[in-house]
Amino acid sequence: MAIIDVRKLRKEFNGLVAVDDISFSVGKGEIFGLLGPNGAGKTTIISVLATILKPTECEAKVCGYDVCSEPYDIRGCIGIVFQDPSLDEKLTARENLDFHARMYGMSSKKREDKIEEVLEMVSLQDRADSLVETFSGGMRRRLEIARGLMHYPKVLFLDEPTLGLDPQTRHVIWKYIVELKKKYGVTVILTTHYMEEADKLCDRIAIMDNGKIIALDTPEELKNSLGGDLIVLKGKDVQKLKSKLKKFATKIREFNSSLSLSVKDAEKSLPKIMRAVGGDKIDSIKMQKPTLDDVFLHYTGRRIREEKADKMSKFRARRMARMRR
Ligand SMILES: Nc1ncnc2c1ncn2[C@@H]1O[C@H](COP(=O)(O)OP(=O)(O)OP(=O)(O)O)[C@@H](O)[C@H]1O
Ligand SMILES: [Mg+2]
Repeated sequence: MAIIDVRKLRKEFNGLVAVDDISFSVGKGEIFGLLGPNGAGKTTIISVLATILKPTECEAKVCGYDVCSEPYDIRGCIGIVFQDPSLDEKLTARENLDFHARMYGMSSKKREDKIEEVLEMVSLQDRADSLVETFSGGMRRRLEIARGLMHYPKVLFLDEPTLGLDPQTRHVIWKYIVELKKKYGVTVILTTHYMEEADKLCDRIAIMDNGKIIALDTPEELKNSLGGDLIVLKGKDVQKLKSKLKKFATKIREFNSSLSLSVKDAEKSLPKIMRAVGGDKIDSIKMQKPTLDDVFLHYTGRRIREEKADKMSKFRARRMARMRR
């Protein structure tokens, strides 16, 4: 049964269409990913579903409640970890959790028990009474996830849970997210622009660009939809190569003076391709299993830029830190 049901969701900011009539539903206990580049509309969708932003037009339900007419019911059944840091650095980890639980009207006994439980879940028991300003980026993110779980949410929104973190810390956070699903049966909606994160964690992924969902399926099916392995080659005369190689590929695409060929079996196709190319100049050639980035490229003709998003997140984090000082 769907715990989130979105029908024709639209959000405009002074004429700018941030979310363009999108529809999707998420099943109970699913980890559902919104994957897309900067400005695709991921945070806007989460903000509307978490009732932080009013949609321009919508028919969307979360936990069976309407986002426009029943926002308070929705707030009781969701947790959210914002894209921008939102902990109070001058409080300890325990105080941050306690403050949050008081805002949700939890009794003192429930607060104490749950604080211990969620701190253990993200392995921060030892640092419970340290000020957050002494925490690393990864520890802060883990504490924010713990805080999102304090009031027993059925749905947890994670907006870029690992943005700007190093790969090792990112893997630790992934482990906690998988545990959330297994241990608590929480439905997780996460946004990310990291292909690997979406691939490893999500049961299903909606790939977004310019406020629209351009593909939605399991990671495996999205990659299979490209029609097999990929052979990417660069050469002097791409048009000529394209006309010679068309017959070997189930799909063929041209981008940045490269050709990307979808083939059933790259290892068997490669010798045939080399023979067909003959004396034509090839600068480089590589074979690979398709990634989600290839899926994005296939639908948009562009690649998702990870570094740019990382830089933006660091800029945002610095700005938030300055504002708090
Ligand atoms: N409060 C706002 N006022 C005006 N425009 C906004 C506002 N919030 C978002 N937008 C615009 O809506 C579009 C979608 O933004 P959104 O933050 O949802 O993207 P995103 O996919 O989360 O991007 P990122 O990966 O950078 O977090 C962008 O063009 C953005 O500039
Ligand atoms: Mg965002």
